[in-house]
Amino acid sequence: MITYILYTALAGLALLVLLPRLKTRYFFQDLSFAISSIKIAISLYTIKKRKPCYSMLDGFLDKVAKHPHKKFIIFEESSYTYSQADKESNKVARALSTHAGLKEGDTVALFLGNEPHFVWLWLALTKLGCISSLLNCNIRSKSLVHCFSCCDAKFLVAGADLKQAVEEVLPTLTEQGVRVFILSEHCEVEGIESLSDKVQQASDQPLSPQLRANVNIKSPALYIYTSGTTGLPKAAIINHERLWRSTFLQSIAAVRSDDVLFVCLPLYHTSGFVMGLCGAIERGITVVLKRKFSASNFWNDCRKYNVTVIQYIGEIMRYLCNTPKRDNDKDHKVRLALGNGLRSDTWEDFLQRFGDICICECYGATEGNLGFVNYCGKVGAIGKEHFLHKMGNKYALIKYDTEKEEPVKNSKGFCIEVPKGETGLFVGKIEERAPFSGYAKNHQQTEKKKLRDVFVKGDLYFNSGDLLKIDKEGFVFFQDRIGDTFRWKGENVATTEVADHLLMLDFVEEANVYGVKVPGHEGRVGMAAVKLKENMDFDTKAVYQHVKNYLPSYARPRFVRLQDAVVVTGTFKQMKVKLGQEGFDPDAISDPLFYLEDNNNYVPMTQQIFNSITDGKIRL
Ligand SMILES: *[C@@H]1O[C@H](CO)[C@@H](O)[C@H](O)[C@H]1NC(C)=O
Repeated sequence: MITYILYTALAGLALLVLLPRLKTRYFFQDLSFAISSIKIAISLYTIKKRKPCYSMLDGFLDKVAKHPHKKFIIFEESSYTYSQADKESNKVARALSTHAGLKEGDTVALFLGNEPHFVWLWLALTKLGCISSLLNCNIRSKSLVHCFSCCDAKFLVAGADLKQAVEEVLPTLTEQGVRVFILSEHCEVEGIESLSDKVQQASDQPLSPQLRANVNIKSPALYIYTSGTTGLPKAAIINHERLWRSTFLQSIAAVRSDDVLFVCLPLYHTSGFVMGLCGAIERGITVVLKRKFSASNFWNDCRKYNVTVIQYIGEIMRYLCNTPKRDNDKDHKVRLALGNGLRSDTWEDFLQRFGDICICECYGATEGNLGFVNYCGKVGAIGKEHFLHKMGNKYALIKYDTEKEEPVKNSKGFCIEVPKGETGLFVGKIEERAPFSGYAKNHQQTEKKKLRDVFVKGDLYFNSGDLLKIDKEGFVFFQDRIGDTFRWKGENVATTEVADHLLMLDFVEEANVYGVKVPGHEGRVGMAAVKLKENMDFDTKAVYQHVKNYLPSYARPRFVRLQDAVVVTGTFKQMKVKLGQEGFDPDAISDPLFYLEDNNNYVPMTQQIFNSITDGKIRL
């Protein structure tokens, strides 16, 4: 009741502040955003105050009580109600507590792909007061051991299909005293214990909340790995409060209780797990879970399951737009798409082709303390500033020197905010309402993300690493990620910009642009890894004409590498660093290589050209 009064009063207040702006184009969107922000702020405030701690799990259990027979997860040919999911997770929790001796505060690494067991395991571990560490199921050997060790886990639970990968690192795990379980009924390998048989025998009776009595809202709930552009992955600490905060995106996007959400992004990342799965739990909706994204089955699945909300990352939308056109492209019930990384050209293509779908693009890093939401559907923007958001959170775009790779300072040694419409580094003030929990067991990387003495002595900001621009209307645009640029001939080249131009060629399906080092030259010269459309040729003349018309000479890719598939990470991020290291030596690379000769045409790369470049006989 109190919250209702508070809510009405605050909404009235928001209306008062907004009324003078009634003339502006986005008045109603701004107002609606204000109302949901206030609602969310109150929900979060209430959640944080609750004793004992009210976690995402409690949110789930409330939904189980509210609608036990509503479908929660649909996976392949099976579906599970909220109540069934609750019972399945009770069984898993009992099996783990009996056979692994798990207790409150233990960390368990989950190493499996998208399947219902992923969800049962996480619920089970939360019921036991344990922390789940969500390993990327594509990593192997050294990286796997690294990620596992990041979070001090003493237990590993792996999917049946990942037995081989576990066996590879088993000696190291055994040496560290790790208990390893696999989701199958038998396992003959010494050191790996079967789990499924134990789960089947366990009771599905509820577990006592006493088992998690010491968990509070600031306790870690999850470790999620961020795939940086360089170095090994880092485990971002997601506490219970943070988990709640990130789930509210679905509220802002006005996801309704009768919606059906399609999750084909990996559950080991924030988008799929937090914004997707946990967001769905907060809304109490049905999730259609897919093992993997498939462009050719995407819309058939949406039709089959009556999907109304989809989740995306930019690449997914591009893959969808690249599929052959069909008559039934607009025949589906999808009304809303939530995600990030959608570029303007794909955005427009997507809408034109698949119909009137509301796109809610948002911005925020897994470990970041602040983000934006584009609640107006403005094509190309990653967010919109809002006075309430600004009132509650301190952030700024600061001048950044891309050459020195550091913020520009004024005479007093402080950072300088860029004027409206100019590009700057996005930084968010770290404070109680916008905390940064950092990375597990990695003080150095945690400190690296912090900027001190930004505007006054002693203040502390989170360095997003992203260059953004905010226009007069308050729309936020992504410009570049620090590191996604290279410098050549004294100029900064944004890799995404060059890639966008290559994508305009009708025979190019995918393009990944990066810089490569050349002996005797400063900086890096541009190179592109390109995937051609099926049955299309690499038309050297057309490429040359195009890059000449659209790009300054320093930004034109001097080398092009044709690939059957552009290699991407588990979240479809392009692998620029690895390609950059592989360089342009035709002896070392089996893919067809082209060289932009004398800035007048692309010719096949030869060993002779390579030698002349490395010897300095040809100056680039
Ligand atoms: C999808 O909706 C149609 C029409 O409303 C209905 O007949 C069908 O049973 C639904 N399918 C599923 C899988 O819910």
